[in-house]
Amino acid sequence: MPVRILNLVALISGRGSNLQSIIERINEGRLDAKIAAVISDREQAYGLVRARAAGIAGLVIRPEVYARKAEYENELAQAVANYNPDLVILAGFMRILGGQFVQQFHGRLVNIHPSLLPNYKGLNTHQRVLDAGDKTHGATVHFVTAQLDAGPTIIQAQVAVDAHDDAATLRQKVLREEHKIYPRAIQWIAEGKVNFAHLIKTPAA
Ligand code: GAR
Repeated sequence: MPVRILNLVALISGRGSNLQSIIERINEGRLDAKIAAVISDREQAYGLVRARAAGIAGLVIRPEVYARKAEYENELAQAVANYNPDLVILAGFMRILGGQFVQQFHGRLVNIHPSLLPNYKGLNTHQRVLDAGDKTHGATVHFVTAQLDAGPTIIQAQVAVDAHDDAATLRQKVLREEHKIYPRAIQWIAEGKVNFAHLIKTPAA
């Protein structure tokens, strides 16, 4: 399948280091994508500074302004759809998107999560891994479905949990891997190596 330049919209809430890794891969010519816009739910998100520095449109859509979650998500969906994205990437977007949004972008919505899913869905994954005494931890890039952190996995990376690790060192280790696997997953999608339908097909017996 020919490689195409994927048109991306990124949703963020904070630091934006994953966004930065994607911007850098694109600039290095190693990722066949362009980022049309970065949309944040928080005005203070540092990722917006990164977007501006890269010449990417940055928008803030604040959920607090809307009386109902559905209204906020309608507005968000409209803003995303305006850019006609091939792929919507959640890059540290710390909100759970409702079924309607997920349905509208079905098969075009991906997320990165700091755990080896299906383990440790939700928040505070690094501390929970330490509390459980696990010896391995990692990150997952997956397609988003209506169930939280449960859509089909595209790629995972593992890290070892060492005796001296705390939540902060573990976060750093996992982030380093996230910065490799998110651009790689997007490139696979650009190359047509991966899509939602492939991943949900049951393997032949
Ligand atoms: C990343 O560790 C990402 O996996 C996580 O937030 C961090 C964002 O960092 N996402 C989630 O927990 C989503 N459930 P970044 O803003 O520096 O990319």
